[in-house]
Amino acid sequence: MQASVVVVGSLNMDLVTRTERLPYPGETLFGQSFGTVHGGKGANQAVAASRLGARVAMVGCVGDDAYGLQLREGLLAEHIDCQAVRTVSGSASGVALIMVDAGSQNTIVVVAGANGCLEPQDIKSFDEVLQGAEVLVCQLEVPVETVGYVLGRGRELDKIVILNPAPVSGPLPAHWYANLDYLIPNETEAWALSGVTVDSLESAELAARRLLAFGARKVIVTLGALGALFVSARRVVHFAAPKVEAVDATAAGDTFVGAFSAALASGKDEDEAIRFAQVAAALSVTRAGAQPSIPLLRDVQDFAAP
Ligand code: RIB
Repeated sequence: MQASVVVVGSLNMDLVTRTERLPYPGETLFGQSFGTVHGGKGANQAVAASRLGARVAMVGCVGDDAYGLQLREGLLAEHIDCQAVRTVSGSASGVALIMVDAGSQNTIVVVAGANGCLEPQDIKSFDEVLQGAEVLVCQLEVPVETVGYVLGRGRELDKIVILNPAPVSGPLPAHWYANLDYLIPNETEAWALSGVTVDSLESAELAARRLLAFGARKVIVTLGALGALFVSARRVVHFAAPKVEAVDATAAGDTFVGAFSAALASGKDEDEAIRFAQVAAALSVTRAGAQPSIPLLRDVQDFAAP
């Protein structure tokens, strides 16, 4: 099977606690619930793209522990090609410690585990998987040299290259930008990459213009309740956010990126793809957890045409 969307990134087991409010440093609180949920930004984006209609392959690493097996089986159950998911012997799988409060806000601490073992050599070994892609998607939960290699290889192969710069820890290597067809940051990431504080549509446009000046072809800043702002050299378009009752924002950004990739791969134009991705992301915040919250294609179609 040739995948139309190839996602290179992390697979994590999310250890999720719900609490009335987030604790202060040094404080102990009672939580309301605890659960293990399949997550990881890469895997979430792969699941979103698959549930929303794309043929998807995942490139990444899991540990040789029970979580690793469960994460792989979870992706296979979503019809995702996992031939390029390597099991790293002697390593634990990635985990994310997540707290979600009653207002649907979350805090996340990620321990990379096997995700930190994904090397450029892994990508070279599975070059035919990349060659089959129309759309290539990366985030920043695997080593930066690997992400850099994938972006460059994607450009050489003339794929549609998408980077979701999450989680962000500082500026990106300058030479990456010329390889990016779409850079999709949220407000915080746009600020970290551009130096512009993003708290309005105007500031989002200013930040996006800096990122274009660095060399990205197109930037989509996701702005939560403010919607999304698309900026290219030719046009600026604001897309208002669909209104929903938020339960848990975990993986909303991942759902947007996966849905956008699937929509582009299916031939939708970028405006249609952004609207489609917004509906998918909005539906994801109405449900708890990372992968369990990601909607199916029919959910998005029903929402768009009630
Ligand atoms: O974006 C949400 C994801 O971030 C979670 O699933 C968690 O694993 C962390 O990677």
